[in-house]
Amino acid sequence: MKLFIEKSKSLIHNYLNGKFPGPILKANRGDKLIINFHNKADYNITLHWLVCMHISHNIFNFSRHGVRQERNPWSDGAEYINQCPIRAGKKFTYKIQLTTEEGTIWWHAHSGWARATVHGMIIVYPKQGTSYPFPKPYAQVPIILGEWWKKNVMEIQGNANKTGGEPILSDAYTINGQPGDLYPCSKQGTFRMEVKQGKTYLLRIVSAVMDENLFFSIAKHKLILVGTDGFYTKPFETNYIMITPGQSMDVLLQTNQFPSSYYMAARSYSSAFGAGFDNTTTTGILQYQDQSHHPTSPLLPLLPPFNSTQASTQFSRRLRSLKSKEHPLNVPLEIDTHLFFTISVNLLNCTGSNSCTGPFGKRFSASVNNISFVFPSINILQAYYNNIHGVFEGNFPRNPTKNFDYTGKRLPENLLTPDFGTRALLLEYNSSVELILQGTNVLASDNHPIHLHGYGFYVVGWGFGNFDPEKDPLGYNLDDPAQVTTVGIPNNGWVAIRFRADNPGVWLLHCHLERHQSWGMSTVIIVKDGDTAQTKILPPPHDVPTC
Ligand code: C2O
Ligand code: CU
Repeated sequence: MKLFIEKSKSLIHNYLNGKFPGPILKANRGDKLIINFHNKADYNITLHWLVCMHISHNIFNFSRHGVRQERNPWSDGAEYINQCPIRAGKKFTYKIQLTTEEGTIWWHAHSGWARATVHGMIIVYPKQGTSYPFPKPYAQVPIILGEWWKKNVMEIQGNANKTGGEPILSDAYTINGQPGDLYPCSKQGTFRMEVKQGKTYLLRIVSAVMDENLFFSIAKHKLILVGTDGFYTKPFETNYIMITPGQSMDVLLQTNQFPSSYYMAARSYSSAFGAGFDNTTTTGILQYQDQSHHPTSPLLPLLPPFNSTQASTQFSRRLRSLKSKEHPLNVPLEIDTHLFFTISVNLLNCTGSNSCTGPFGKRFSASVNNISFVFPSINILQAYYNNIHGVFEGNFPRNPTKNFDYTGKRLPENLLTPDFGTRALLLEYNSSVELILQGTNVLASDNHPIHLHGYGFYVVGWGFGNFDPEKDPLGYNLDDPAQVTTVGIPNNGWVAIRFRADNPGVWLLHCHLERHQSWGMSTVIIVKDGDTAQTKILPPPHDVPTC
C-alpha cells in the first residue's frame, strides 16, 4: 500500500493519507506488507512497526520459533538506530512479514515526538484457513486511545529540551481521535459505537498516548481480555484494563445489558512522584440500537483511582499466554545470559544562562544502568553492519554500575547524575536471555512501559522493592507467562523477562513514556549473526536513506 504524511492546515495534526489517526492496515498472519512511504510533511521522519520482528524464509522477513531465521532490522524504523530519517519529500519502502503475531498491533513514527499524531493500527487476522481461539465475534471495532494537542508537538518537545523541565500536557485524551463530551465544547467530538443487543464484539485497543498509562472501562459491561501485543492470552473477565503507551489489547465485549447508552472512558494511571499529569477523562458512547428511550446522560464507568498501583498490578498480573497446540510457547528454561538493567529518572545541572525548570532548578535526564542514551549521527545498524568505527561502543554494562537502593529512598542529589553514552549490548545469536528490569527510585518512581524492538518476550516474574536473585526466581511462571512487546515495570518494583536471542539485528530498548525516552531512557541490544546464511542479518535494501 501507499502511505503518505502531510501537515494539516491548522498545523495541529499531521494527516496520514488525509486522515487522523492514520489508516488501519489489515492483513492475515503470514502476509507480507510492502509499504511505500512518502514524506510530504516538512520534517524528517521514520516509521516503526510494533510487531515483534520475527521471521520466516523469504528475503524480507522476520521469523522465529527456530526454523527460518532471516532477519530484517532495516525495516524496523527507529531513527538513528535502524535507519536515518526519511527527509522531507523523500520515500522509503518498508517490508514487514507478519509471521508470529496475530491480533492487534500498530505502527507509529519513530522520530522525536512525531508519533503523537503519526500512528495507526495493524489488524492481523488468523492465517488463511485458521480461526480465532474464541467464537467468531459478530463485529470488530478498532479503538485507538490517543491525545489531542492544540500546539505543534514537535515544538513542545523542542521547548522541553530547552527548559529541561516536563513537557506540557496534551489538551485532551482521545478515543479514535475524539476527546468526548466531558471536555468543554466537545459534544460533537465523541466517538459512538452502535451495537446490537445480545452479540459479542471484538474491541481492538491500542494506546498511542505519549506519556500516561491509562485505565479504560465501559459502564455496566465486563471486558474479556483475549490478547495483548499480537499474542493470544487465556481469556479473563475484568471491569477495566490498564494499558500503557505502546501496548495493544484484544478485548471481547458482550452486549448483554438493557438497551440504552453507556459511556466508555479512559483516564490516566499515574504513580509518578510529583509529576504533573492530566486527570481528565476521555469518553465514547456505547449505544444500543432499538432503545426505547435515550438517556440524557449515559452512565459513567467506575475507573480505579488515578494513583492505584494496586488496580494496575492486579490487572497486569492476570495476563497469561493462551498456550495451545496452535499457539505454543517457547519460554527459555535454561538461561545462559543474565542481564540486570536499572531504569531511572535522573537530574543534571543546568548549563547555560537560562535556569532550568526541573526539580531543584536542574534539568531532567533518564537512564538505563545509569547511562543516558545519546543518539548517534548515523544509524547504529549501518555502523554495525559496515564496521564503521566511532559511532557506538559495544560495552553496555550487563549489570548496574552503581548500587542503588530501589525501595523508595531518594538518593542525595549528587548521586542523581547519570553517565552519557551511545553504548550497545552485544548478545551471541541464540543465547537464552533473562533480563531483570529494576525500576529505581533515584529521583522518582513510575510504571515504566519498557518496549524491546525485534522480540516478543515472556514476562516470567515481577514484584515490588528490590529484586532478590535467591528468592524471586522461585516464584516465576515458566508455564504460561504472557508474551508481549511492551511491559510495565510495577511502580517501585521489577519485572523479569525471558527471550531467546534468535533475531539477529540492532534493536532498541526504551521506555514508551515519550518524555522518559527523550531524556535518555533507552539502550540498544545487538544480536549477532548466527553461523549459517539463514541466521544472518539481511543485506540492506537499495533505497535505505542516508544521514
Ligand atoms: Cu512503539 Cu520504539 O516504539
Ligand atoms: Cu519511563
